[in-house]
Amino acid sequence: MADYLNILTEEKNGVLYLTINREDKMNALNHATLEELKGIFEEVIDNRGIKAVILTGSGEKAFVAGADISEIASLNEVNARKFAENGQEIFAMIENCHKPIVAVTNGYTLGGGCELAMACHIRIATANAKFGQPEVNLGIIPGYGGTQRLTQLIGRGKANELMMTGDMIGAEDALALGLVNHVLPTKSEAMEKAEEIISKIMGKAPLAIGMIVDCVNAAFLPEDGYQTEANSFARCVKSGDYKEGTSAFLEKRKPIFKGE
Ligand code: COA
Repeated sequence: MADYLNILTEEKNGVLYLTINREDKMNALNHATLEELKGIFEEVIDNRGIKAVILTGSGEKAFVAGADISEIASLNEVNARKFAENGQEIFAMIENCHKPIVAVTNGYTLGGGCELAMACHIRIATANAKFGQPEVNLGIIPGYGGTQRLTQLIGRGKANELMMTGDMIGAEDALALGLVNHVLPTKSEAMEKAEEIISKIMGKAPLAIGMIVDCVNAAFLPEDGYQTEANSFARCVKSGDYKEGTSAFLEKRKPIFKGE
């Protein structure tokens, strides 16, 4: 596997370990990191030596704290739709991959980070993990499939509440909601749990595992939902609230929204 700038890769016994490595920015997903993810998952799909993937974030504080706000602060309606569709396409590649993909969510798992974790087949959280879709604080909405996958995973009422309030929830609440499969006290224990599950799955018939992925995904065919999400995301960036929300974050102050 080639070297990447923002993602550490290590292959061991057929398992590819991926670590989003922008610790000083809470592993926020900038464009370059997203493109690296795309390249890596294209290889995961093609490379017969890779049987499974474990994806985590560098350090103890964050899995991924969202899309990189410094890059999304100046979108227009046209490139915002492209921004959302590109992320949706990459995350769909992960969700549809016939090899098991397990996310170990260590710390902040917010916005695009929560969306990335939800695109993986299984999620293991550390006890300090915090989940949320705080896009509403920036005058936007989740754009990488979050409006669809969160609703699928935890149901309409709770998904509405989380996305409308932008609130964060802890790992135990995420477990109770079915957002994560397991919670372990530390990152190393969470990694061990991921390895235990992966090793069990690797002992099963790979073709059958791929068919399970296809069938589970077929239970949700929300193509219109994703298009609505990309269009709505693009509409948000036309607003003054979006400019105010992103500027306020970057200027480290509270936003004042006007609803326009
Ligand atoms: N995009 C870009 N930079 C981000 C980021 C993001 N999504 N999340 C965190 N960072 C950066 C901060 O700007 C800061 O950079 P700086 O040191 O150059 O100022 C650094 O990561 C550390 O974050 P900081 O806010 O100082 O840490 P904290 O412990 O006080 O708070 C969070 C952590 C995750 C609660 C806070 O960073 C946050 O709310 N991030 C944004 C989450 C979000 O809205 N995600 C959705 C984006 S669409």
